[in-house]
Amino acid sequence: MKGILLHGGHGTRLRPLTHTGPKQLLPIANKPMSQYCINSLKEAGAKEIGIIIGGIGANKVREYYGDGEKFGVKISYIEQDEPRGIAHAINLCKDFVGNEKFTVFLGDNIIQKSIEDFARKFENSDAEASILLCEVDDPSRFGIADIKNEQIIKIMEKPKNPPTNLAVTGIYFLTPVIFEMIKNLKPSWRNELEITDALQMLLENKYKITYDTITDYWKDTGTPEDIINANGAILEKMKPYFDGTKEEGVKIQGNVMIGKNSKIQKDVEIQGPVIIGENCVIESKTKIGPNISIGNNTTISEIDIAESIIMSDCIVKGKLKMRNSIISKNSTIIFTEQHNQNEKIFLLGEGTKILF
Ligand code: TTP
Repeated sequence: MKGILLHGGHGTRLRPLTHTGPKQLLPIANKPMSQYCINSLKEAGAKEIGIIIGGIGANKVREYYGDGEKFGVKISYIEQDEPRGIAHAINLCKDFVGNEKFTVFLGDNIIQKSIEDFARKFENSDAEASILLCEVDDPSRFGIADIKNEQIIKIMEKPKNPPTNLAVTGIYFLTPVIFEMIKNLKPSWRNELEITDALQMLLENKYKITYDTITDYWKDTGTPEDIINANGAILEKMKPYFDGTKEEGVKIQGNVMIGKNSKIQKDVEIQGPVIIGENCVIESKTKIGPNISIGNNTTISEIDIAESIIMSDCIVKGKLKMRNSIISKNSTIIFTEQHNQNEKIFLLGEGTKILF
C-alpha cells in the first residue's frame, strides 16, 4: 500500500508558531511531528509516500525529508496550491496511487499504537474504506461517526448535536473509489472539500466502510495545548539515556533523555519525562520537568519550567516559573529581575527576543 502524508494547511490555530513554517514540522520530543506519521505509514507497509505540501513551509518540508532515503522510504512531493480541504489534497494524489489501496495520514495526528494490524486487515478485506475512531470528550470539535449494530451509518463534520463521541481520526485506509466520490463533492460552509463528506458519500452509495477503535493515545495537534499534551505522551514512552555530563548535586528522577555534549551544572533538578538535545547547557539551580523537550544548542538558567517545549538554539534565563509554553528556535528570553512566583505562559514564534 502506498502512503499519503498531508503536510499542507493553514495552521492558523498555532500562530505565531506557524508564521515561519508548517505546523507538522513543529517538534514533539525533539522530532518533527510528521516524522512520527512517516514511521506509522512505514509500519503500515508503505514504502512509497506522497507528501502533500503547500504554502510558506513547502520548501522546509522538502529540505527535511528529501527523497526519503534517510527515513527508509521513497518520497514524492505533490503540491497543493491552496488548502482547499483534506479531500482536495487526497484528490491530487490520484496518479500517485494508481489502482492500489492506500493509507492517508494527516501530518498533525499523533498515535502511539502501530497501525500495522489495521492496515493488514484492510488490505485483506473487501471494504472501500476503513477509518479509525477514538472516543473524545468534546465531539462537536471533530468529524463524528454514528454507529448502529457495529456498522457505521453516518459520518458528519463537527455536528452541533453529536450522536456519539467517536471522532474520526486523521488516518484513513482507502481505495481509488474515493476519487469518484471527491469528483462530486461540493465545498463545505468553510469552503473546503471535506473528507467526512466523501466518506458519507461512500456510505450513501452503499460502499462498505469498516472501522476500528483506538483505545491508546491519539491526538489531533491543532492547538498549542494539544502539542504540549502530545509531547508529554511521547516522552513518557521513550527509553532513557544519558550522553551528556553532570556536576555534583544534580537530581534526576523519572524518564530522562540527555543528548551528546549537554552539560547539567550543579544543583539542577530534573523531573522526567524530559528530553534535552545535544550541546545544551543547563545552568545551576534550574528546575526542569515534568513533560519538557529542549532542542539542541539551547542554554537554560535558573528557570523553573514544566509542561513546555523550548526548541533549538535558544537562551532562556531568569528566576521565573514557566508553564504550558512553547518557545520557537533562535529565541532569547532573559529576565534580570526576580519575578513573582505566579506561573507564566509563553507562546513565541521563531527568533523572538525578550529582555525584561
Ligand atoms: P486542519 O487542522 O483541519 O487545518 P489547518 O492545518 O489548516 O489548521 P487550522 O485549522 O489551525 O488553520 O488540517 C488537518 C491536516 O490536513 C493538517 O495536517 C493539515 C492538512 N491539510 C492539508 O494538507 N491540506 C488542506 O487543504 C487542509 C485543509 C489540511
